[in-house]
Amino acid sequence: MPEFAVELRNVSKRFPGPSGEIVTAVNNVTMQIKDGEFFSMLGPSGCGKTTSLRMIAGFELPTAGEIYIHDRPMGHTPPYKRPVNTVFQNYALFPHMTIGQNVGFGLEMKGVEPKEIQRRSSEALEMVRLAGYEKRMARQLSGGQQQRVALARALVNHPEVLLLDEPLGALDLKLRKEMQLELKRLQREVGITFVFVTHDQEEALTMSDRVAVMSAGNVLQMGAASEIYEKPNCRFVADFIGETNFLEGAVKAQTGRDVDVELAGGLLCRATADEGSQVVSGQKVTVTMRPEKLGLRPWQGADNVYDGRVEEVVYIGTDTHYTVVLAGDQRLRVREQNDDPLSRPLAAIGDAVKVYCDEVSARVLTE
Ligand SMILES: Nc1ncnc2c1ncn2[C@@H]1O[C@H](COP(=O)(O)OP(=O)(O)OP(=O)(O)O)[C@@H](O)[C@H]1O
Ligand SMILES: [Mg+2]
Repeated sequence: MPEFAVELRNVSKRFPGPSGEIVTAVNNVTMQIKDGEFFSMLGPSGCGKTTSLRMIAGFELPTAGEIYIHDRPMGHTPPYKRPVNTVFQNYALFPHMTIGQNVGFGLEMKGVEPKEIQRRSSEALEMVRLAGYEKRMARQLSGGQQQRVALARALVNHPEVLLLDEPLGALDLKLRKEMQLELKRLQREVGITFVFVTHDQEEALTMSDRVAVMSAGNVLQMGAASEIYEKPNCRFVADFIGETNFLEGAVKAQTGRDVDVELAGGLLCRATADEGSQVVSGQKVTVTMRPEKLGLRPWQGADNVYDGRVEEVVYIGTDTHYTVVLAGDQRLRVREQNDDPLSRPLAAIGDAVKVYCDEVSARVLTE
């Protein structure tokens, strides 16, 4: 088996816009999706996720570049000749048909023998934990069950790659979380490559082996969930994935990856630059710090310690969120776990506190 299930090489898609202008939906994207992985495309509305997926499926052709599936260039190959299947958000089952008929419909169209259809349909329904539901009518199922049928309908074709476009979007939160785990289990069991599209960062982090973060037709960063969360390569990614603080400053000095940044109000910050990123003295940069990596508890040997005043305290059970104002009117959000058995708040509004932060948790962003 080739290493990559799907490859996009310099793929662009331009559409004619409503008033004659050109809309670039996907801009020179190169991406390699490994065989057998759970890969997600994540980004805000309009960033080009669906368009990318539709090009892999063959519903749209790239304006430039080429798409490969298991090393085969797809060119003008029509959708039904590609070894992929798509599950859409609006999975639209045929309500007047049974589950078995819904799942077997595609195979029937292809002229597969009834016995074989039955065998493969049962097998697919078993995979999505709906064994024995063949005779039920589609309209008698809950939303989550209907989504499972939609999955079975795709799996029955034994695709090499399964494309999923916000398949859980129509479900309520609880069901959505259940289906996330279910999908992940399914992917592990059947071992086929999943390409999953979502604008929900938590969903992407929970489910994926790797994530591509997209914005305005571009892939900004691609990597394991932890890599994207811990080492965002730009402000957009840091902001889009999870919660974070941004402090503006200018580089004072740099030795290797250690960077001293002068922040507003004359504060100094010892921060870490990305491998291979070049910063020079005087350069304007942004420092990002995740709230859970900051602390109010005294912390021996912390690289950065700032005096501040508590502006806001929000208790949310597991954690307490503090907003602390530093010199130069800069604000830091700090999250402390309530792991103390007495669960005492560490500070109240108006208290003078110190905020502690290590160098590795303060990351320098240049764009
Ligand atoms: N057929 C089309 N004709 C013209 N413009 C299009 C067409 N399809 C998509 N676009 C435009 O391309 C851009 C990307 O659209 P796309 O549907 O890929 O975004 P998306 O990331 O899937 O967004 P969402 O999260 O809202 O589904 C948008 O600006 C959209 O308006
Ligand atoms: Mg979309």
